[in-house]
Amino acid sequence: MAYRTAIMGATGAVGTEFLAILEQRNFPLASLKLLASARSAGKKLSFRGEELPVEELTDKSFKGVELVLASAGGDLSKKYAPVAVAAGAVVVDNTSAFRMDPTVPLVVPEVNPQDIARHKGIIANPNCSTIIMNVPVWPLHQVNPIRRIVVSTYQAASGAGAKAMEELKEAARAMLDGRGFTPKVLPHMAAFNVFSHNSAVGPDGYNLEETKMVKETWKIFHDPAILITATCVRVPVLRAHSEAINLEFTRPMTEQQVREILSQAPGVKVVDDRQKNYFPMPLDASGQDDVLAGRIRQDYSVPGGRGIALFVCGDQIRKGAALNAVQIAEMLH
Ligand code: A2P
Repeated sequence: MAYRTAIMGATGAVGTEFLAILEQRNFPLASLKLLASARSAGKKLSFRGEELPVEELTDKSFKGVELVLASAGGDLSKKYAPVAVAAGAVVVDNTSAFRMDPTVPLVVPEVNPQDIARHKGIIANPNCSTIIMNVPVWPLHQVNPIRRIVVSTYQAASGAGAKAMEELKEAARAMLDGRGFTPKVLPHMAAFNVFSHNSAVGPDGYNLEETKMVKETWKIFHDPAILITATCVRVPVLRAHSEAINLEFTRPMTEQQVREILSQAPGVKVVDDRQKNYFPMPLDASGQDDVLAGRIRQDYSVPGGRGIALFVCGDQIRKGAALNAVQIAEMLH
């Protein structure tokens, strides 16, 4: 089935990646409409050798559209996803607008593809850090149920959008040139610095990104019994997130078992060369579909051989956003 498709936020970091992925995967399209703000109307973006015009997003944008890939921000999704659904479209929404809505499936195709079938017009794409953690953790949980996850992220600028990626480059140039730099997109100096994730901090001290990793994982795994704690920070990396993950299993788990399971897991590539000290790196993960997993070792802080530590990297714009959404769209009937 070829869909009449629209991309909401086509000029953004995720939007432009949607174009690249639809082209690379030869996604069946009957037509493709590019939607962004009035600022971008008239701009051209290349797709399959053609220059496609960008149109301003309005209430009328969705007439005749069957599939919407949305990544223009939560407020715009809240406003326009219902408009698109009323016009007869299925919306795969990359924002956080509907993720925790119990009537909306939240899907990582490697984990819970069966949830797609119960959609009522909107399917939510999870948070990027959640996806990158869930892809390698789920197959382990299937074999030996996980009781507790401790995760620390090292998140790229791309998660804050194309403008944040530009700001990181400009900040680095300014620092190297000895010039002053005032951040405008991110709250703090992005270059040569690390800071707590830029989402709002709740009264309990957890920022929204950390809370998303916990609650979204519960929903995707259908398992709110897993204890999860996250620490999310931004690092001066352009487009791939890294995560240090410590897992406590129900039964003993060896590093060999984990390596075997992950080497067969869909969407995972094991990169774990101790001799060469070669492990997952965000630069290696950039532009790749797979989540790289390595530094697989026993976590001795968990008694009874039930602890495993690992380090993973995944492309935030691809598997963390655009690729996951296109994979969901590929599973629609
Ligand atoms: P535009 O480039 O015209 O501002 P990112 O996540 O990389 O920041 O991208 C955000 C995307 O959302 C861009 O495509 C941006 O378009 C789009 N966008 C932002 N504000 C609006 C708006 N008011 N109406 C439609 N699209 C918007």
